[in-house]
Amino acid sequence: MTPLPIRKATRVLVLTGAGVSAESGIATFRAGGGLWEKHRVEQVASMEGFVEDPQLVWRFYSERRKGVLAAEPNAGHYALAELEQRLGDRFLLTTQNVDGLHARAGSERMLELHGNVCMTRCLLCAREPFVDETLYLDSLPKCELCGEEGRDTILRPHIVWFGESLDGWVLSQIDDFISEAGSDLLFLAIGTAGAVYPAASLVDVARRVGGVSYLINLDEADNASQFEHVIRGKSGEVLPRLFGL
Ligand code: APR
Repeated sequence: MTPLPIRKATRVLVLTGAGVSAESGIATFRAGGGLWEKHRVEQVASMEGFVEDPQLVWRFYSERRKGVLAAEPNAGHYALAELEQRLGDRFLLTTQNVDGLHARAGSERMLELHGNVCMTRCLLCAREPFVDETLYLDSLPKCELCGEEGRDTILRPHIVWFGESLDGWVLSQIDDFISEAGSDLLFLAIGTAGAVYPAASLVDVARRVGGVSYLINLDEADNASQFEHVIRGKSGEVLPRLFGL
């Protein structure tokens, strides 16, 4: 496999999706048997669903939390951490995944677009999201800070639900990286079906500044035609070879 065209000036932006964690045993969303075949999105991944049945939502995320805590990063995660080590501030990883496996593999220049399943935050007060590995299968967590002020507020998973906006600071970091790179940008989308925006539009932004775009994915992706290079395969097998590791 021809290694990536990385020159001295090249700045690499990576977008990962659920496919990167598939080899760690974590279910993807849209492939056969994926999460969205077993659960209705609006019931378990929207504010409306949470208001209607918060216990159902906490059960859904507690099951995913349990799976993530039992999983280990795979060769694809480690290859990305290694590439970051080599490139330093000429590398940025943004992930749609909420499983925290990139961080556990050593990625530091990493932005979580959709939150983190092992973090919890208050529905109401402005307390910072906090690390939480508790499983709420038949109980609802309450905010103790709100409790001290006499409010009975439940806590929610620190996840970006459908219909909710992404963190503006995260998006601005990505935009800055792309505009600073210009035509020296090398954009890699890995293990994502390209079905959810704004992540799926990053390839268009990369091409507008004259960057080179690669899609590394097991199956066809919705936005595959936008990429200059498409490599079909498993990220755990492809990435170490593509990065010349
Ligand atoms: N290596 C590379 N790609 C893989 C692998 C693998 N080992 N296994 C599966 N894939 C590919 C599949 O072919 C599929 O196209 O990963 C892609 C995963 O697509 P989705 O399941 O749609 O996941 P993703 O693109 O990350 O979804 C984006 O949608 O539901 C929301 O918030 C959720 O972050 C998620 C977002």
